[in-house]
Amino acid sequence: MTDATGVPVAALGKKTVRDIDVSGKRVLVRADLNAPLREADGRVVVSDDARIAASVPTIELLRERGAKVIVCSHLGRPKDRDPKLSLAPVAERLGELLGTDLPLAPGLIGPEVEAMVAQLTDGDVLLLENSRYEAGETKNDPALAEQLAKLADIYVDDAFGACHRAHVTTEGVTHFVGTSVAGLLLEREVTTLRGIVESPEHPLVVVLGGAKVSDKVAVIDSFLKVADAILIGGAMCFSFFTAQGHATGNSLVEQEGIELARKALADAEQSGCRLVLPIDLKLGREFSADTEVQELDGVDVPDGWMGLDVGRKTYEAYAAEVKAARTAFWNGPMGAFELAPFAEGTRYVAQAFAEAPGVTVVGGGDSAAAIAEFGYADDVTHLSTGGGAALELIEGKLLPGVEALNDV
Ligand code: 3PG
Repeated sequence: MTDATGVPVAALGKKTVRDIDVSGKRVLVRADLNAPLREADGRVVVSDDARIAASVPTIELLRERGAKVIVCSHLGRPKDRDPKLSLAPVAERLGELLGTDLPLAPGLIGPEVEAMVAQLTDGDVLLLENSRYEAGETKNDPALAEQLAKLADIYVDDAFGACHRAHVTTEGVTHFVGTSVAGLLLEREVTTLRGIVESPEHPLVVVLGGAKVSDKVAVIDSFLKVADAILIGGAMCFSFFTAQGHATGNSLVEQEGIELARKALADAEQSGCRLVLPIDLKLGREFSADTEVQELDGVDVPDGWMGLDVGRKTYEAYAAEVKAARTAFWNGPMGAFELAPFAEGTRYVAQAFAEAPGVTVVGGGDSAAAIAEFGYADDVTHLSTGGGAALELIEGKLLPGVEALNDV
């Protein structure tokens, strides 16, 4: 099955916001507004609004259909009520994107919040303060869930990036609200990412990077069953090289990843999928943008050097595979792209995803940040807003925030 843009999709199996009557109803929307912040001229502002912008279509749909919209989200991992993690800067940005004044309630629950909800008229929107200011949120405390549920007639989960968490605002609240459905973003994320694993157009080429094999081993397992090629980059390649007996110099090697890498190489032999490792590297003396740099034709890293990016032959070969694929998926940078001399491999892969004619899907986290930084965010078929959630979905895990919703 494909969607209108030709992207393979798998059925969600859950009711969505499109399936229900929301007119005049109080609708609690769990969005993932966990956006990065920075200080500018003494004020805290949102530095990347991708997740906030991705939450807009569901909120707009609900407003158009006459709902009273109550939005909640976590932001960061605050200790107590750390004012630096207030949703105030997010309220400002979301209000701008919605073209409306967006009041911020002082908490997630309580009499003041209830009074603000009682004043909403059809089409109004209210944002509740950082859900993790409540200690019960991450403990999935049923008492907190019950109190939160009193604010609403209907619950909509649109927080794909947080749906792998069984927290009050993603799971617990559904036990106390009669109707719990998926928002438009959650639906698109789940159907697209599942579609990549369940019914991809071949060849399916997967590019995986990042520091640790242990973070990606379950994803490798999933894709060995379905992909045509898995191309490995990032520091995790050094666990593979150690397993193959190569010298790694001072490179970052995840020790517990070595055995996992050995097993993945053996599993790949038995599968119909090629597991491809870099053939050249870019080295630095140390992890710094000012360090001495050397290109290495090969992968045996000399003493006193560390591998900080894949080399030109590698990234050109990876880019060619991505461009020849009918479906390409990417998660994890190819090197230390935050250091200018070692950004080339990641930039080249990002550009290949932007230029590839097939369906291109980029997982969240660092690869989403990289593709945005290099200016290609609008040029891929689907840029996921979820980091951990996207990986868990591909691994085939059940996501508590999705499981809790009403079935079709
Ligand atoms: C994310 O940034 O991946 C999500 O918003 C989840 O945040 P968490 O890892 O703090 O639960």
